[in-house]
Amino acid sequence: MVEPSAEGADHETAAAGPETAAARMARYYDLDLLDDPGDLDLYLAMAERTGGPVLELAAGSGRLAVPLARAGYAVTAVDNDAQMLHRASKACAGARASGRRRTALDLELIEADLTTLSLDARYGLAFIALNSLLLLDGADAQRRAMQVLADHLRPGGVAVVDVVLPDATELSAYDGRLVLDWMREDPETGDHVTKLSSARHDATHATVALTTLYDTVSATGALRRTTRFDLLSLRSVSELVRDATDSGLEIESLAGDHQLTPLGPGSERIVLIAVSV
Ligand SMILES: C[S@@+](CC[C@H](N)C(=O)[O-])C[C@H]1O[C@@H](n2cnc3c(N)ncnc32)[C@H](O)[C@@H]1O
Repeated sequence: MVEPSAEGADHETAAAGPETAAARMARYYDLDLLDDPGDLDLYLAMAERTGGPVLELAAGSGRLAVPLARAGYAVTAVDNDAQMLHRASKACAGARASGRRRTALDLELIEADLTTLSLDARYGLAFIALNSLLLLDGADAQRRAMQVLADHLRPGGVAVVDVVLPDATELSAYDGRLVLDWMREDPETGDHVTKLSSARHDATHATVALTTLYDTVSATGALRRTTRFDLLSLRSVSELVRDATDSGLEIESLAGDHQLTPLGPGSERIVLIAVSV
């Protein structure tokens, strides 16, 4: 599942309410993530290993950044979607770091394009999670993102990149067919939401064009459709490794899942772990 920053087309009439399509899309992102991707333990372990501070690129609504901050790490979370960061800010508000001294969270939210990010601080852990790299605008932007990770690490710091690795069977199913992903009640609004998606693989450009439709029925029976369009630029293992080494990182391991099972035939993801030397 991938939730990017692209703008959603809004089919709602102005009279139906002030919430923008972007704000609604950010809410749907969190509704999507009721299916836990299961990657938080990986980042907690990496944060513990390095001691932080932590930089998350494309941090979205703070799904990882907020628990990392709650675990006591200083976290900088970068995203270019103000509505996603607004949700991260809300999730952070009132939360306290764990432990005996329950201090306010050390979480900095920065609205910026991650591909041009340049901060003074250096981090023990820098990562881009859950396919976010694939949402960037092609190979050049993906290379820049890798360089940004590398440039913000202190010597010995660790970079983690996590992207999906669809196999031939999955790619062949990305033929434009409409798929019912889920039907859920939105706990924030009580609305009934149906998520449908259509993916189309373009082997020539190694892209997947993704159209997502969120159909919402409110308590009054009003129907609203919100649509978003995304283009995923797929990345092979060798391309990712080259991007990392070209950025000055040293590959530590290549895993095929969030439990760090070694990458191999049948792996559904690439989890690249690299060290700043
Ligand atoms: C799949 S979400 C991931 C959110 C979060 N890391 C998580 O795992 O739940 C992808 C995020 O990437 C952000 N994004 C996409 N392109 C970006 C860019 N060029 N600069 C900063 N953020 C970007 C989107 O706004 C979105 O919040």
